[in-house]
Amino acid sequence: MHILFASSEAHPLIKTGGLADISASLPDALKRLKQDVRLVLPAYLSVKAALKTRRVVQDLDIPGAHGKVSILEGILPGTRVPLYLIDCPPYFDRAGDPYRATDGRDWQDNHLRFGLFNRVLVKIALGQAGLDWTPGIVHCNDWQTGLAPALLSLYKGRPPTVFTVHNLAYQGLFPLHVVDDLMLPPELLGFHQGLEFHHHISFIKGGLAYADRITTVSPTYAREIRSQQFGYGLEGLLNHRAHDLSGILNGVDYRHWDPARDEHLVRNYDANDLRGKAACKEDLQTHFGLHVRADVPLFANIGRMVEQKGIDLILAAFGRLLREQEIQLVILGNGERRFEQAVRQLAQAFPRQVGVHVGYDEGLAHRIEAGADFFLMPSRFEPCGLNQMYSLRYGTLPIVHRTGGLADTVVDTHPGSFEDGSATGFVFEPPTTEALLGRIHEALALWRDHGIRDRLIGQGMRQDFGWDISARRYLDLYESLR
Ligand code: ADP
Ligand code: GLC
Repeated sequence: MHILFASSEAHPLIKTGGLADISASLPDALKRLKQDVRLVLPAYLSVKAALKTRRVVQDLDIPGAHGKVSILEGILPGTRVPLYLIDCPPYFDRAGDPYRATDGRDWQDNHLRFGLFNRVLVKIALGQAGLDWTPGIVHCNDWQTGLAPALLSLYKGRPPTVFTVHNLAYQGLFPLHVVDDLMLPPELLGFHQGLEFHHHISFIKGGLAYADRITTVSPTYAREIRSQQFGYGLEGLLNHRAHDLSGILNGVDYRHWDPARDEHLVRNYDANDLRGKAACKEDLQTHFGLHVRADVPLFANIGRMVEQKGIDLILAAFGRLLREQEIQLVILGNGERRFEQAVRQLAQAFPRQVGVHVGYDEGLAHRIEAGADFFLMPSRFEPCGLNQMYSLRYGTLPIVHRTGGLADTVVDTHPGSFEDGSATGFVFEPPTTEALLGRIHEALALWRDHGIRDRLIGQGMRQDFGWDISARRYLDLYESLR
């Protein structure tokens, strides 16, 4: 099957979060299932710099674009997946991340940048981009690609579309007047089924209203987004489309995330021999200047420092715990300034117990997964979440809020689940400091019993969240649309 997979980021070329992991590992998994899948990304400056082997395959004439538009072709590094890059230097040749300038503020012309990206997607989908390939299915991801299903819906004989929601909180909302800049046909406007949303144009609504099928990245999140609490006002539309909406759990690329062969670790290990994990803990403690002690429990968190992730709950809980107990905490992440400052302050107050790296560091993320005893994910909502699955494979016990993909991947430890061998971590609710603290105390009590600890770790490490099952589910979905 010819599948065009459209995304705004993909590992290892450009990454701000889990979308990048999935936009690389899912096409790769589909390729292994012998599908002709091709990935398409905007040609950001950093991507062009990272992708040495590429060639211009086509120049395009896109009315209204503020510069020359062309399609470059290469291969996604580490895979055999062909890659198209949509190049338009005035839009994409910039420092900063895909969405924000270096001062942390959104680019003012994001509607034009991603508007252009979507219009080129439509050309490729319709076989009008001068490529010697046309897709039989177009798979779009998140708001950055939401206009394509809407625009495509206007054409007869177009390929079917799938739209995956990785995070409903980010919607691509722009003031109504961008309609002119984007040259949007009037028949796509309108509130109930169209792109309008409370005096804005909503890119994500393009995907939700017009794609032939909608998926999201875990079964629980697929249910949650149909409720007022998680739907952000889009729950009506999502309920209307309930028959076309499903949840497919994200997979893990164990070629990158497996302690038995992870190149970032001082020593590799697997479920049969955890001595390497002890070495990784020492390495992590040394790196952050913490007391190097195997008997002190080490907690960790990696992620974007935003309200979603509950970083404030970790700060509040550990502000108390660190005074009461000999424990350690390592945090890697960046995001909102207030949270970055607060974690730095915590590290200053407890220099031998708390290690903080404000920034983005792929290698350190792997070392933390391996070196920690517990991984904290108190997310208020979590469409899927990858780090809890990585943690399971690295023998690092996850402590998670019961929501979205966290609820679907971590089995809480209680006498029944421990006895039947299904327990893999610790699950709490509601997302409050009290509930988190309560579960941490219980987890610590069990962890101090080496027999229980080893059994839980072993159960977690044997879980398989590889792509085999989920990639086939996507394939079945595509096939149902042919
Ligand atoms: P989200 O996509 O909401 O940010 P996920 O759990 O799906 O959350 O994916 C986050 C991914 O980004 C993981 O691969 C995680 O290791 C990585 N990550 C997040 N922040 C950082 C950071 N500061 N340094 C390195 N990796 C990070
Ligand atoms: C989003 C979600 C996260 C999910 C990731 C990949 O960024 O916040 O939960 O794992 O996308 O699907």
